[in-house]
Amino acid sequence: MNREQKRHQPTRCAASPSLALVKYWGKQAGGVNLPATTSIAVTLSHLETITEVRLVDSRDKQCIRVAGCLQDSERYSPFFDNLRATLDHDNWFEVDSINSFPTGAGLASSSSAFAALAFGCTRALGKPVSSGELSRIARVGSGSAARAVYGGFTRLSAGAQQAEQIAPQQHWSDLRVVIAVVDSGPKPISSRSAMSRSAETSIYYRNWIDSSEDLAQLAERAILRRDIEALGSAMRQSYLRMFCTMFTAEPPIVYWLPESVAVIRACERLRHSGIPAWETMDAGPQVKVVTTARWSGRVAEALSRETGNGEILVVGAGAEPRLIGTGAVT
Ligand code: DP6
Repeated sequence: MNREQKRHQPTRCAASPSLALVKYWGKQAGGVNLPATTSIAVTLSHLETITEVRLVDSRDKQCIRVAGCLQDSERYSPFFDNLRATLDHDNWFEVDSINSFPTGAGLASSSSAFAALAFGCTRALGKPVSSGELSRIARVGSGSAARAVYGGFTRLSAGAQQAEQIAPQQHWSDLRVVIAVVDSGPKPISSRSAMSRSAETSIYYRNWIDSSEDLAQLAERAILRRDIEALGSAMRQSYLRMFCTMFTAEPPIVYWLPESVAVIRACERLRHSGIPAWETMDAGPQVKVVTTARWSGRVAEALSRETGNGEILVVGAGAEPRLIGTGAVT
């Protein structure tokens, strides 16, 4: 293969989304996507963004497509500008990406999208970097993507430039996340705008920030001990406090649907009958329920009763981004 052919050879890779168990919601000043709260997360198995990156020779050829749809290049410029400065290169990229799960619907697709993009670009440039460096690069695209460059369990500390792994994928192999997709359409408002509106207008935002570190520590210790009850109770406080800042924003932000509430109630009934089923939600109506392998079938059954025809996915802790060779993704 000559140099020119090699240059146009696509790099194909996959990354999985990072589900926050304790949430990142709000940014600190003084950097791009510097989190105001410490988040604790698990990278999910089975769900993937698959991204193909090609080097192109000029800025006007640079483009990003998701499922064949051309994306607004402005959204990606901080990412590419930072990549250029960090890796000291002057290349441009043609990117095609698809998700194996609903996009922009509160299933953390921006975390896997920017983790895959960061991974793909560094590989396409022939400049592989450490996981920490990859995490910093991905964070500039999306805060939650800083976590998705690792497999297993992660922490992104308040004010940190990069996330870190707190336990590998195998650490808690019987942990399961049952996802009730109650509505797979795109969300009415992006998490980025919702986050900034909450910060600017909710009277509870300060309390949210001040109380988040304790929850992160509780959750991290619970993960290390594989204590699902302690993890579940920290998770529950985290998502409900986060939503308090949204419900009290001006104008209020309400991602929840009646089915979301029905699933939350079903989880409460499951717990009363002795089944671990601890829910969390993000910027969308889907409900993600943490349980164990033993109970995941029962939990999935209970959730599907509440969601009508909604899709139910059962996943576990997943792996870090991977290279999957070459080929077209669309
Ligand atoms: C509710 O990472 O999408 O999923 O940094 O502005 O791109 P930006 O936000 P993003 O927000 C994630 C919010 C969340 C919680 C979380 O993943 O921690």
